[in-house]
Amino acid sequence: MREDLKNSAGQPWGDNEHSLTAGQRGPVLIQDYNLLEKLAHFNRERIPERVVHAKGAGAEGTFRLTKDMHQYTKAKIFTEMGKSVPMRIRFSQVAGEMGSADTVRDVRGFALRFYTDDGNYDIVGNNTPVFFVNDPLKFPDFIHSQKRDPRTHERSQDMQWDFWAHSPESVHQVTILMSDRGIPASYRKMHGYGSHTFKWVNEAGEVFWVKYHFRTAQGIQNLSNDVAQRLAGENPDYLQADLYHAIEAGDFPTWKVCVQVIPEQAGLDYPADIFDVTQVVSQKDYPLIEIGEFTLNKNPDNYFEGVEEAAFSPANLVPGIEPSPDKLLQGRLFAYKDAARYRLGVNYEQLPANRPLNHPNNYERDGFMQTDNHGDQVNYEPNSQGGPQEDPAGRLTPYTVSGKAGNYAYQTDYGRAAGKLYRLLPADERQRLIETIVMNLGQVKSHDVKRLETAQFYEADHDYGLAVAKGLGLKLDEIKDYPFDTTH
Ligand code: HEM
Repeated sequence: MREDLKNSAGQPWGDNEHSLTAGQRGPVLIQDYNLLEKLAHFNRERIPERVVHAKGAGAEGTFRLTKDMHQYTKAKIFTEMGKSVPMRIRFSQVAGEMGSADTVRDVRGFALRFYTDDGNYDIVGNNTPVFFVNDPLKFPDFIHSQKRDPRTHERSQDMQWDFWAHSPESVHQVTILMSDRGIPASYRKMHGYGSHTFKWVNEAGEVFWVKYHFRTAQGIQNLSNDVAQRLAGENPDYLQADLYHAIEAGDFPTWKVCVQVIPEQAGLDYPADIFDVTQVVSQKDYPLIEIGEFTLNKNPDNYFEGVEEAAFSPANLVPGIEPSPDKLLQGRLFAYKDAARYRLGVNYEQLPANRPLNHPNNYERDGFMQTDNHGDQVNYEPNSQGGPQEDPAGRLTPYTVSGKAGNYAYQTDYGRAAGKLYRLLPADERQRLIETIVMNLGQVKSHDVKRLETAQFYEADHDYGLAVAKGLGLKLDEIKDYPFDTTH
């Protein structure tokens, strides 16, 4: 059916191929306002890309609860059996820009949004259970070291290994990144993790610490260095295309949602600090409990609206789910909504991908691109005009804090978990881990950086460190003493 072309003000648009000119060979007239509008709009098409996780792919789906968790949380999403909750997901690369290749070695973002009756609940995780740093003060420096060199504008092995070599808390995550899991073959074929420890609270006010695991039903599949490198050239959008076309073909990927639940005091007494995001909680101590599954069954109709404008945040929590004192998580509670205000504007939550199922009802008003300004409703509180009133259900559970304000380090032996992981790997995977480290760390110019990083591996596990040292031509004397306190 033929449709009439209209400009953005709704007026009929007479010619979309020939600018208005003064005669056949005359100059273009400034009164061609449709031309001016079109060029001006085009100039403003780009918004800032995400400062991290710029390249990504998204999908929509549903979550279904299979186990009632009311014993541990009052969150409706985990207690209302049989209800299916609409959701949105975005997978991403961390370091590369919007146009970078999908198959580079990197952590993958795994951001989930559940549209619940109590508002949006986001779990903004990764495909790894831990992270490189555990204090938000270190995040911008860490990311600078992953991005481009300020002089050459190249990605730099020197910068990233320099940061890691001086940050012993990174050794666990670096080991995971350099392992086979560092290059997933498909977003559909990787596990996801909430990574942090979160707080669940039940109706009785009892607290439990929770870690999320999203187990792929498609099976784990990774790429070798060689294949990944070839694909990066052949199809830089390899992972994005894989997800899109699987969903288009009706091959809907599914993940089991599992949790580790730790009673409040047991968590505080646990030998590893459960609020240190560089650490995991043993599944022998706290086995996974399967509580539901989600399936991705729809591609967004429009990428910009459904993926680029989606603004996930660890601060999007619902009653029954609260932040833990994990310092990195605490920093993230600020960072994401602030990033969204910069990237999308102050009214970003009114965009279709971010709009909750219920209707926001508060006293925030105006601002750029406001489309839901509450009409003639009263815009201040307290008031006598029946405006919305606070809902105690939204209050955080009070808890006790103690000690003196100060700048504290986690008291974690960072090598321990990395060594344990190394010893768990089958021999062939261990072999590939060493080869990949030697291939990457081997490109670093500084002998000192190589030595310090290898000393971290040695502290994690002597065989691990020695194998890397052999590959890099380092001597035992050079790596046997890591000079910095590895509990800081
Ligand atoms: C994206 C900051 C740690 C996972 C982002 C963005 C910022 C940010 C500013 C861009 C958000 C946007 O423009 O919409 C931080 C800070 C961290 C931190 C300050 C530490 C203090 C982490 C950790 C994880 C993580 C530990 C995973 C466990 C993600 C994911 C995205 C993201 C998945 C992409 C979200 C999306 O798909 O839109 N981060 N991040 N980040 N971050 Fe973090």
